[in-house]
Amino acid sequence: LAAMSLSYEQFRRYLGDRRLPLAMVDLDAFDRNLARVLRTLEGHPARLRIATKSLRVVELLRRLERGAGARFGGFMCYALEEAAHLFDHGFDDLLVAYPIYQASDLALASDLVRRGCKMTLMVDAAPTVARLDEAASAGDVVLSLVICVDMALELAAGRVHLGVRRSPLRTPAEVVRLARDIASRPLLRFAGIMGYEAQVAGLGDANPFAPALNGLKALIRRASVSEVRTRRRAIVTALGEAGLPPGIVNGGGSGSLDSTPEEAVITEVAAGSAFLKPHSFDYYKSRTMRDLEPAAFFALEVTRQPSAGMVTCLGGGYVASGPPGADKIPLPWRPEGLSLLSNEMCGEVQTPLDARGCSTPLGVGDPVVFRHAKAGELAERFNRYLLLQGGEIVDTVPTYRGQGRCFF
Ligand SMILES: Cc1ncc(COP(=O)(O)O)c(C=O)c1O
Repeated sequence: LAAMSLSYEQFRRYLGDRRLPLAMVDLDAFDRNLARVLRTLEGHPARLRIATKSLRVVELLRRLERGAGARFGGFMCYALEEAAHLFDHGFDDLLVAYPIYQASDLALASDLVRRGCKMTLMVDAAPTVARLDEAASAGDVVLSLVICVDMALELAAGRVHLGVRRSPLRTPAEVVRLARDIASRPLLRFAGIMGYEAQVAGLGDANPFAPALNGLKALIRRASVSEVRTRRRAIVTALGEAGLPPGIVNGGGSGSLDSTPEEAVITEVAAGSAFLKPHSFDYYKSRTMRDLEPAAFFALEVTRQPSAGMVTCLGGGYVASGPPGADKIPLPWRPEGLSLLSNEMCGEVQTPLDARGCSTPLGVGDPVVFRHAKAGELAERFNRYLLLQGGEIVDTVPTYRGQGRCFF
């Protein structure tokens, strides 16, 4: 993996004497990653729905839409206001993947539909359906709804739950009941189902930070892939028998590209992180994940040398969300051989590094390149991304944050 990525010298040439810290995307790697993701869909009908939360940069979303061509299957947004932001920038086919409830979101949703936006909202419970029905009536619009289905693996009669805590709907009967509720309301339209198998997509089974758990994780992934396939097929069959065949059957994420596209019932696969390959995606045995290249980076400036064999960079405390752990902290990437100090790690104002294993001599003023643990969260720390391609900086584009927007 290290060999695939830009060298320290290449980064230095790109950076020149630009002000640090800065964040950048290697478009060559980004485009190759898109080609790799599209390859996982070959021979299958599924289209690609781009998970916007993992980019949060309008220009990169546009590039993915263009590059996906006929495989493009819309965007998966994480917030209603974000969907509105994207619609205002000319994007369409926006599926908001997490349920909305508050009045301002409902009003905005109706407004977007009235303005001609192709939008789909997520539900997983009857009270939310009833509220969206009221909103549709108040706004005099028809709202399209997708039902979120729990794809977690439950063992020991539900005492062990492996996966995320999202939808309470697991069985075909539960999903059909809610789909009937939706279909019975004239201003709501049942558009399909979505199920995110997080215990496959988000479970790195080659994690150097917790090696003892890798065998178990690989087992969970394997068991889940076949269980998820069976459950999804049973739900789609039951919906068809109820006269409610789902138009959308969305599944997976970047971490399950080896398995989700192969399911016959899947109409679209969601992916976002794959294009940037944050370092938490290095720790998978999955073939597709291993093929991907790191494409997003940030550079800090060395401003101190507290002792021989040590350098300290200004800034860097960009810790990722999720259970805290070493795999949530930025990874020193270039030059190679730098390591974080266990008692400081990446700090609010500075990040000291042990440079004894580093063959490149570093001094004050030099850049150090890092990778974030997650794909989208880096964009919350920077106003702009530098876009690198073929040895040149080809553009500087704003992140959502740089556009003055922060959705949550
Ligand atoms: C509903 C849903 N689909 C897909 C994804 C996968 O996103 P990515 O491809 O960026 O890992 C997520 C991530 O949390 C998600 O919540």
